[in-house]
Amino acid sequence: MKDPCAALAPAITVSLPSSSARSYNIYIKNGLLPKVGELVRSVLPSKKAYVLSDDTVFGLYGETVRNSLAESGFEVYECVVPHGEASKTAENLILFLNRLAHDRITRSDCVIALGGGVIGDLAGFAAAVYLRGIPFVQIPTTLLAMVDSSVGGKTAVDLDEGKNLAGAFWQPSLVICDPDVLATLPADTFSDGCAEVIKYSMISDRALFDKLHSPISSQVNDVIRMCIADKQALVEADETDKGVRQLLNLGHTVGHAIEACSDYTISHGSAVAIGMVIITRAAEKKNICPKGTLTALINLLEAYRLPTKCDFSADALFAVATADKKRDGDHINLVVPYGISDSRLLKVPATEVLEFIKLGLGEG
Ligand code: NAD
Ligand code: GLY
Repeated sequence: MKDPCAALAPAITVSLPSSSARSYNIYIKNGLLPKVGELVRSVLPSKKAYVLSDDTVFGLYGETVRNSLAESGFEVYECVVPHGEASKTAENLILFLNRLAHDRITRSDCVIALGGGVIGDLAGFAAAVYLRGIPFVQIPTTLLAMVDSSVGGKTAVDLDEGKNLAGAFWQPSLVICDPDVLATLPADTFSDGCAEVIKYSMISDRALFDKLHSPISSQVNDVIRMCIADKQALVEADETDKGVRQLLNLGHTVGHAIEACSDYTISHGSAVAIGMVIITRAAEKKNICPKGTLTALINLLEAYRLPTKCDFSADALFAVATADKKRDGDHINLVVPYGISDSRLLKVPATEVLEFIKLGLGEG
């Protein structure tokens, strides 16, 4: 069937050959927000659309999305939670599930995630478990959500013991990126997204690494497209994160520990930036990557106003990092740079992670 929205934007298509055997489109184009209804209608026959958003994003873009969905014939419902990581909880999950049930949402209706990674993860998890799974659409509004969290189907909420401890793999039916919304993003939040962009360039994308020497803000659509293409390849090869997809965790093993040690006052993007520096310094000291790799990384992170150090001790970071869910028995799959744009998975005994962190903090 001809795609009625084909003229709107060139789409990246994620095709999942594995168990879920399906595909979905990702649209990236300025001015798409008022066309959300049309785009969602082109893939979903739903009667009702339930928008989950946070108070900041909904105040800025809720009306545009609501009107667009209504014009395309959807009965629109809304649930708005406070902004920030503190909303990605089991309590808000239950609250939203109860709202879906109260408003008689069925499997042929849909959830719309309008917001950053917090909203995408929460809405996606609710869609995954409500009635054992209903369709959902990602409308990412932060750079981080556009380049990373809206694609690939990882959904989750945080538990008292740590981030993302309860979740599901549940792929969206559609992803709509309108870079116009980035105009209202606070500078620090934009920088958080830049950390994930730099991550892709350090994993395998040399063309992206070179491109980042000109400001991301001046070429944001291209950068989003390149990051999503990188992620698409990893997700298609390993939807459930058992192998190559784990490369996306570059900087995250230590990064998650930094977030937790700071009581989540250090943002995800900043923690990933510091985590990448720590693992790269350790790799350089162990002669895994050539000298100069660390300086090149730090220069790039600093150009995007990202932090490159923290005050936590190696022991404190180790304790949290080895309790991380990415642990595989007595081993941890660390993502280690072997050079710029050449990161690889290295299965190391959990005890050896302390040595990496000490070297990475400059303690060894
Ligand atoms: P976020 O969703 O909390 O958004 C950051 C802040 O920006 C919020 O205060 C929000 O209200 C505001 N905001 C969002 N869009 C805006 C806009 N266009 N204009 C003005 N303000 C806007 O955080 P985030 O950085 O987008 O996402 C972080 C979350 O994503 C974390 O919970 C992390 O665990 C998760 N994550 C998930 C994946 C995945 O694969 N599922 C990947 C990476 C990160
Ligand atoms: N953000 C990591 C992943 O999607 O696997």
